[in-house]
Amino acid sequence: MKPTFEFSNDEKGELFGILRGIKESPYLDYFGFHNRIKALISEHNIPQSFIKVCEKIRAERHSKKSYSHLLRNVPLDEHIPVFDQDNPVHDKYEKKKSFVGEAFLELFAQLTDSPLLAYETRNNGDFFHDVYAHKKYSRTQTQKTDGELFFHNDRTAHPVRADYLSLLGMRCSESNRIYTGYLDGRALLDHLTEAQQNTLRKPLFITPYDEYSRDSNTQQVTSDRHSILENEHSFRYYDTRTTYAPEAPADAIDALLALKNAIVKADKKRVQILTGDLFSFANQDALHNRELIEVNDPEGALKRWLLKTYSFRDRDSLQRFNDYFTREQPGLVKEPVARN
Ligand SMILES: [Fe+2]
Repeated sequence: MKPTFEFSNDEKGELFGILRGIKESPYLDYFGFHNRIKALISEHNIPQSFIKVCEKIRAERHSKKSYSHLLRNVPLDEHIPVFDQDNPVHDKYEKKKSFVGEAFLELFAQLTDSPLLAYETRNNGDFFHDVYAHKKYSRTQTQKTDGELFFHNDRTAHPVRADYLSLLGMRCSESNRIYTGYLDGRALLDHLTEAQQNTLRKPLFITPYDEYSRDSNTQQVTSDRHSILENEHSFRYYDTRTTYAPEAPADAIDALLALKNAIVKADKKRVQILTGDLFSFANQDALHNRELIEVNDPEGALKRWLLKTYSFRDRDSLQRFNDYFTREQPGLVKEPVARN
């Protein structure tokens, strides 16, 4: 995929110089961190070139021109720690003392006017989380797997779902060919008849929660019955996991098979996210996957680290879910306490 923008080394150095000074931890005080970035913008400290890129991305999303964007050579932390694979999130709290990657993601979210989303029971409510292999989730279909991921959108089973996902390559071995696939919802519709689309718009389907979500919250087992197709071309689907609901009519099964065929046939984009790349794309208006095409450096694959955020399309979309959020922090979804 062709990058939307590639930072020159000078531009990267300039922004790094600004972001390296941030001392507020997004993991201890997201609100303070968010406000610190907001102040950097209002004090006109951010290079114009980056502001313009973010304006372009916002306009392309808004005009429906493109829902996927790739930035290259973005500023990252000077020291990129290696985490253990038994409890990498906890190890990150211990080892990560600068927040340049997080600040870049927060800045990108603010400049594209797409506020961040987090869940109280996932990654301890962090707004910045990691695609990083966790031994316990090896070969699962979760963000902590070391394996492939089938086409899906994130948090398929959850009622509050991100409009956009951003993945920032913190450490990606160049010897490995690990690809993130992107399938625009409009490309899928081209392969579905009107009747199949209508059936997919009915609440005839279910999606069990993934292993990581179930471990984080034991009340999260299976979604309510849901439609697969919503809005113009939003999908709510996890391949091999989303299925027809008990006693659904035969039409639902036919439409589900048609969707599986459409996923095979539709045009896709593939991005090899490398260190310093930001890939930001639609979560609900598209599907994405992960393919391990060639792993020449297994240790590198195990230590591959993408810093990740969920975001809303705009402030109105955030406010639509106000009832779900904690009182203290808009964007942080409160959830029923797990009965462990
Ligand atoms: Fe995903």
